[in-house]
Amino acid sequence: MPISKADRLALSDEETFQNPSVAHDIFSRMRAEEPLAFCPEPWGGKGFWAITKYDDIETISKLPHLFSSDGKHGGITLPTPEMIANRRNLTRAEVEGPAELADFEGGRSMISMDPPEHNKHRRQVAPGFTPQRLDALIARIRDRADVLLDEVGKMGSAESDFVADVAAELPIQMLAELFDVPQADRYKLFEWSNVMIGGDDPEINVSREQTMGAFMELAAYAMQLYEARKAEPRTDLISMLVNTEVDGEPMSVADYLSAFVLLVVAGNETTRNSISGGLLALCQHPEQRQKLLDDPGLIPNAVDEIIRWVHPVIYMRRTALQDYALRDVTIRAGDKVAMWYMSANRDEEKWADPFTFDVSREGPRHLSFGYGQHLCLGWRLAEIQLRVLLEGVLARYPTLQVTGPVTRMRTNFLNSIKTMPVRYAA
Ligand code: HEM
Repeated sequence: MPISKADRLALSDEETFQNPSVAHDIFSRMRAEEPLAFCPEPWGGKGFWAITKYDDIETISKLPHLFSSDGKHGGITLPTPEMIANRRNLTRAEVEGPAELADFEGGRSMISMDPPEHNKHRRQVAPGFTPQRLDALIARIRDRADVLLDEVGKMGSAESDFVADVAAELPIQMLAELFDVPQADRYKLFEWSNVMIGGDDPEINVSREQTMGAFMELAAYAMQLYEARKAEPRTDLISMLVNTEVDGEPMSVADYLSAFVLLVVAGNETTRNSISGGLLALCQHPEQRQKLLDDPGLIPNAVDEIIRWVHPVIYMRRTALQDYALRDVTIRAGDKVAMWYMSANRDEEKWADPFTFDVSREGPRHLSFGYGQHLCLGWRLAEIQLRVLLEGVLARYPTLQVTGPVTRMRTNFLNSIKTMPVRYAA
């Protein structure tokens, strides 16, 4: 079936992603018929190229000089401030907020920078994510997962929400560990991160004022921590950020704030969704769960498959800086491109049966963590958390069941499960 205008517009409609199979159907047809499909946008958007094939996303991700992430060209998400203003009936100033905050609000963090600037900023944060540093956290992650899982076990056969009790808790507890802040502060971090990433979900992102309020509180918290770790350095990630020099220069306060916000936002929701989405997949495919129960040695493999399957980040955007010929089209300078990881992870040219969930799957690495210049900095930490959690759940609750429909956040950017009712004991 040719790709209709409705299909193209559907990619900008959050409703399409409420039921992942609806979006998968469009992407499957695009990969087959029109792998680089130009999609018009509502709300005055200029449209974008939908990149749906694995190899094309790799190609674009390897060319950060041609395909920019820079905030000044539009950054990493599709809607522009004008589109958001048109949609919500606001002025552009209301959407963008006070000018002095524009720098901090994602615009200037490494994820929205191009090389060579990006390289420097990434080098400031990357030492916090070395394998040695993260391996040293495994015992603490396991302790935290054990406490969480023991606690939910007390509910016996009562129904409860897996997202609130487990999937949301572990990543935010780990963030508190990484920052070496009191665990009680995690609730604030959780709340701020939720509000800031809530996008168009009416239940979460109620108003622009709330987003700004959350950002201001988060920034104030980050600054307190900055002063404290300057005065008395410890061994945590914040101490590392505020006391390390790159190219002979300390990190500026503005860069520190942007890095702080990025770390809180980037690692929280994404890891939560890989945990809840993974458990959902195992419950929907009991024979795959049985494979893991029979052979727990397969769990690291299952982690890869879950992150391929769940694609916690649905797309990332780039902006072409020059004309570029790809397949049979020319992407023009200034065009927006959306790299749909959700689609690339089901590319039939990469996996023989991409729509089968198979915990023993071998094959190419999924693209859920992106690729190239901006490859996710926290991928190893996310994988460790998912692995430890799976080990704990399978050992304690081999018959865990999802007992009702899951609810999803209204967004086409993150594959986000808001609630997932479960019963731990049969
Ligand atoms: C399953 C969980 C996760 C997924 C699916 C995920 C996904 C991604 C993706 C797709 C990108 C690439 C952005 C681009 O190309 O524009 C990215 C970047 C990034 N992620 Fe993750 N992420 C996860 C967990 C984490 C965690 C736990 C942290 C840290 C605590 C983290 C920190 C970052 C940072 C700092 C970047 C920016 C890297 C750069 O621009 O060089 N992520 N992530």
